[in-house]
Amino acid sequence: MEPRELREDFPILKNRGDSLIYLDNAATTQKPEAVIDRICRYYAWENANIHRGMYPLSTQAEHAYEAVRREIADWIGASAAEEIVFTKGSTEAVNLTAAAFFETWVDRGDNVVVTELEHSSNYFPWKHQCERFGAALRTAEAEPDGSLNPEAVMGCIDSRTRMLAITAMSNVTGFRPQLRRIIEEAHRAGARVFVDASQEAAHHPINVREMDCDLLCFSGHKVYGPMGTGVLCGKRQLLEEMRPYLYGGGMVKRGDGGLPEYRQDPEKFEAGTQNIAGVLGLGAAVEYLRSRDFAGLTEREADLAESFRGRLGNIRGIRIKGTDARSPLIAFASDRLGAYDLGVLLGNSGIAVRCGSHCAYPLMSRMGEESLCRISLGIYNTQEELDKALARLRRLLEG
Ligand code: ALA
Repeated sequence: MEPRELREDFPILKNRGDSLIYLDNAATTQKPEAVIDRICRYYAWENANIHRGMYPLSTQAEHAYEAVRREIADWIGASAAEEIVFTKGSTEAVNLTAAAFFETWVDRGDNVVVTELEHSSNYFPWKHQCERFGAALRTAEAEPDGSLNPEAVMGCIDSRTRMLAITAMSNVTGFRPQLRRIIEEAHRAGARVFVDASQEAAHHPINVREMDCDLLCFSGHKVYGPMGTGVLCGKRQLLEEMRPYLYGGGMVKRGDGGLPEYRQDPEKFEAGTQNIAGVLGLGAAVEYLRSRDFAGLTEREADLAESFRGRLGNIRGIRIKGTDARSPLIAFASDRLGAYDLGVLLGNSGIAVRCGSHCAYPLMSRMGEESLCRISLGIYNTQEELDKALARLRRLLEG
């Protein structure tokens, strides 16, 4: 399906027409009508709490919620629906994992390894827990071009490494580490691996079984779903052994005085009333992507990115960061205008991009940049939009 036709599915793109060229998809994606309708339908017809009511409205909402769990498990190749925990986003998923994992498995003198590619959300939760538990946080250095050498990661891992937390795709340059190799070697050394797939999930089909990571997370709002939704996928045994993170209603089986008995996962990690409407919206997003041939759309997106990157590089004074020619995330700086100025000037012409340090301070510093402009593509972006963005950039930087 061509992006022009696909755009008909997205109300904001139809409503705003040519006045909006949305190229900030790495920050959040726009939502198809199917997602918006699903949320409205839930509140208009189906609203009830789940796991608590015996009446049809409640059990039907529960069935719909659990069906999304199965859909997500199938979409990312998990072994069972029980491996899927709903969170409010990647940030919560990392905080949950770091807190629960440390309480269960980490002792003073152990270490956790992260990389310089990580977004703050896959760095600070680990750093915080390391400080609490007297463990060391080791950071694998990136290369000055923003790439990551697997040897740099392996050089940080030893017999006291309990966890390697690593991104599947940098949110700045779109660089994708050699995950299969890194995960295999980390496992051989006895470490577990947590993958932050916040960007990857929007641009490449994921298969957690093939990847063989122990845990993985992504946010719903970056895969065309609602804000306030996210997924943590974990190997069954790991989730079973991990202590809970949030305590409250819905995660306790018996709690009458003595030690509470927790419910089976994933409910053990879903205390309190969940974002049921959001989860149903996320399910609608996944159904939508599958119905539109997600893999094919991401290939087309990469083709578009490749040709755009080549033409962008011809603008005088532009420095493009990152080594992946087909990455749908394109970060750049110019000798002529600062990233913030560029962001504002593009914004004033209806072109939405992100600028700044992208919550990735170690990577920015390794690449020797204070701030960068980032154009990030989604499945609905067209050649025409990129031509317009390029023409505007050329006028600003060469005119
Ligand atoms: N993490 C998101 C980004 O990179 C918000 O823009």
